[in-house]
Amino acid sequence: MQIIRNPKKLSEILKKYRSKGKAIGLVPTMGALHEGHLSLLRQARRENNIVVASIFVNPTQFGPGEDFSRYPRPAAKDISCCRKGGVNFIFYPSVKDMYPQGFSTFVTVEGLSSVLCGEHRPGHFRGVATVVAKLFNIVQPDSAYFGQKDAQQAIIIKRMVADLNIPVKVRVMPTIRDKEGLALSSRNVYLSLAQRHDALVLSGALKLARHLFKSGVKDSAKIIGSMKKMIKGKKSAKIDYVAIVDLNNLKPIKKISDNCLITLAVRIGKTRLIDNTIIA
Ligand code: PAF
Repeated sequence: MQIIRNPKKLSEILKKYRSKGKAIGLVPTMGALHEGHLSLLRQARRENNIVVASIFVNPTQFGPGEDFSRYPRPAAKDISCCRKGGVNFIFYPSVKDMYPQGFSTFVTVEGLSSVLCGEHRPGHFRGVATVVAKLFNIVQPDSAYFGQKDAQQAIIIKRMVADLNIPVKVRVMPTIRDKEGLALSSRNVYLSLAQRHDALVLSGALKLARHLFKSGVKDSAKIIGSMKKMIKGKKSAKIDYVAIVDLNNLKPIKKISDNCLITLAVRIGKTRLIDNTIIA
């Protein structure tokens, strides 16, 4: 396994593999790797000859007052997780490598970026789309791997890839949860023990939604109402949104049918957590 910081150097190395017909898989990350990332690395390992993991805490996707400076950066642990996942190259650039002086081009996926998380984190998806487009150009992977936990991010990246004719297969892999149901997230480390317990209300509310749907409730407003009531029962929880939307265009759905996404963002103390489930 090799660690490479310079974008040009990585592109040059990968060019050689590409010309020999080797399939390249990319797992973009911001580090603080957990079992969820490991599942992406393992999937990439199964499907490609060469696996590249990028580790870059991307400043352009953090808003003012968000956690960019305190975002966890456990380098040694991340490197050993990449080794465990069978990574061939870690792309580990600095902010200057990715955003040199004079940088002024951004990618905006309109519409999809301004709802749900985008409404509460203006500019977030512009930063995500821009850095992912850059990573796609630097690595030129055959396939790239993302987690379903960040459902809106995955939908936006798929849209960008289709709209800009980027020749990458976007693979979205299932959310990995701890044994109590909490979706794994790098931000879970911010939670105290009591908050961690309260955070189970996210997956709890999604479970409730699925249960109501299965028992015949199709009215989104009713389901959302029950979910919100459950979440508000936790003192440390503050709802950003609870929504039931079309999986393709993220528009609200009144009556649940196929292809909808039940999604929520909740602040537990100062920590903003997201989770979702798909009704297929
Ligand atoms: O999901 C993430 O960790 C980030 O948003 C990504 C895709 C690595 C872009 O910075």
